[in-house]
Amino acid sequence: MGQSVLWKKYWTNFFNKLSVNYDVMAFTATPGLKYIDRMEQEMVTHALPVTQGMMLDVGVGTGRFTQFYARRGIDVVGVDISFSMLKKINQKMDKNERSRVNLILADAENLPFRDHKFNWVLCIRVVKYVPAPKRAIKEAARVIQRNGIMVFVDSVNRIHLPTFFLSFLPRQKTHLFMPLELKRILAQYGLNIVEIQGKFRIPFMFNVVKSERLVQLMKIVEEILDRIFPSTFLTRTLFITCTRV
Ligand SMILES: C[S@@+](CC[C@H](N)C(=O)[O-])C[C@H]1O[C@@H](n2cnc3c(N)ncnc32)[C@H](O)[C@@H]1O
Repeated sequence: MGQSVLWKKYWTNFFNKLSVNYDVMAFTATPGLKYIDRMEQEMVTHALPVTQGMMLDVGVGTGRFTQFYARRGIDVVGVDISFSMLKKINQKMDKNERSRVNLILADAENLPFRDHKFNWVLCIRVVKYVPAPKRAIKEAARVIQRNGIMVFVDSVNRIHLPTFFLSFLPRQKTHLFMPLELKRILAQYGLNIVEIQGKFRIPFMFNVVKSERLVQLMKIVEEILDRIFPSTFLTRTLFITCTRV
């Protein structure tokens, strides 16, 4: 079996198993996670304040963004490689949300849609799990309309030191990029960056922080560092808004 198939199988099984507790493990188990979730939701919805059109949510997961946009009147197609994640979002949606959402079991590397079908595309915390991330970006670019918007969020920055060191742990199956490399790939597929922001500079992990006070303190330190070193190059998570040319 090829490396890429094994890798895909690994993440499919991983997210299938995690799906039951995913929302807690990813967004609410610690004050640090709650903070990250809130910030991501604020940044994404600020970057894409839309209320109509068709959206593709690549790697929809348990659907925190899909549900939000469906409630606002957007028709959303959510694709994911994990059937259990799709089942989970399906259970969570109410009748109104369901009427606007289509869920499809599909691979980000091979999206089953015609060219330029969507007005908006979300690629949130997914590309780093894909064995051929360039292909996933190319596919996202292919299915978005000209002048459509893609929001890309991921902790993929190879220069962020803790991320760099963690990448040497055994059995790592995620991709990291040099920020310039990522910009080049986006440009190569006709995605023009209109805004890029970086978050999380301090070299330890917000998500494991259990004390609300420490989260507040880290937030302040992050904000100060943000002002002193506004460059996104050293941050763990990149928030990128692109238009399709
Ligand atoms: C960390 S979760 C993020 C979910 C959601 N985007 C969010 O931000 O809440 C990553 C999701 O990507 C999905 N995924 C991983 N590899 C994929 C692939 N090759 N194609 C489609 N989805 C994939 C996983 O099954 C999982 O649901």
